[in-house]
Amino acid sequence: MSNSPVLQLLRNSSEFISGEEISRRLGITRAAIWKNMEALRRTGYTIEALPRVGYRLISIPDKLLPWEIKVGLDTDVIGHNIIYEEDLGSTMDEAVRLANDNAAEGTVIFAEHQTKGRGRMGKHWVSPAGTGLYLSLIIRPRIMLKDAAKLTLLTGVAVCEAVNGFTQAGAGIKWPNDILIGGKKLAGILTEMNAELDCIRFVVIGIGMNVNTPLSRLPKEAISLKAAIGKHCDRISFAREILRSFESWYKTLQQVGFDPVLDRWRELSCTLNKQITFRERDKEWSGKAIDIDNDGSLLVRLPDGKIVKRNAGEIVH
Ligand code: BTN
Repeated sequence: MSNSPVLQLLRNSSEFISGEEISRRLGITRAAIWKNMEALRRTGYTIEALPRVGYRLISIPDKLLPWEIKVGLDTDVIGHNIIYEEDLGSTMDEAVRLANDNAAEGTVIFAEHQTKGRGRMGKHWVSPAGTGLYLSLIIRPRIMLKDAAKLTLLTGVAVCEAVNGFTQAGAGIKWPNDILIGGKKLAGILTEMNAELDCIRFVVIGIGMNVNTPLSRLPKEAISLKAAIGKHCDRISFAREILRSFESWYKTLQQVGFDPVLDRWRELSCTLNKQITFRERDKEWSGKAIDIDNDGSLLVRLPDGKIVKRNAGEIVH
């Protein structure tokens, strides 16, 4: 099944469209139309059929089908090539494989379910089927290796804005790039790259989000969008919004620079001005998160007034 001409006709007609009309417009037989309708129904489309009246599209499936995400997707590059799998170990592995195989910049891999979803610091990312968003995005940025961390912060801004534009959930960013609602984790971002000397060949950005995931399936420190706003969310529109938002910030980085990204990160941050704790070489440190540096490092003021810089790792608010 794909974005068949029959599906496009149904999508563009708000009223019933007769078999005769479909047959005339597409130059296909009644039997072929019937076959198409059955195939669409098997994919999960609900199509009403009335004798002597015609067909009408009632609903589309709750699946991250590439041709549905592409409806109204107005990006230039991101999401032009979308790959969709029901089941994968990890979308990261598939993206790395495709990127090594010369996949174009902007290629996105979506999975309904991951058996080996991975998070930062070797953690597992819980990825139950059909309820969350699990995607990896391939980009080929022309930036220096030392600037790669900027992409992670940029993605945090893009995802957080997509959440806040789509809902009134009031999501914020916990350094470096966890998306939180009410102190609980809604989404995480994982960046992996392939580089030679100072030249980045490609970067794979993985985004995992608990959209309609039942809380019983999630770790206790996590939340889903559905739990936060009290209603089921349309994953397709949301996926589209993430791709759009990412492209817009990616263009800003390339055309204007990192400063606007940093400024927006500061506005969306729920880490700045908080007391935080971090662990380093079996020692724990606490202090106040005072700012973020130009390279994305967190600046922390320790109780003795000394300011330290953290460029990786995990903090506790
Ligand atoms: C984190 O917060 O630790 C990052 C989580 C990233 C999870 C996503 S889900 C899609 C992609 N595939 C993976 O295996 N991981 C990332």
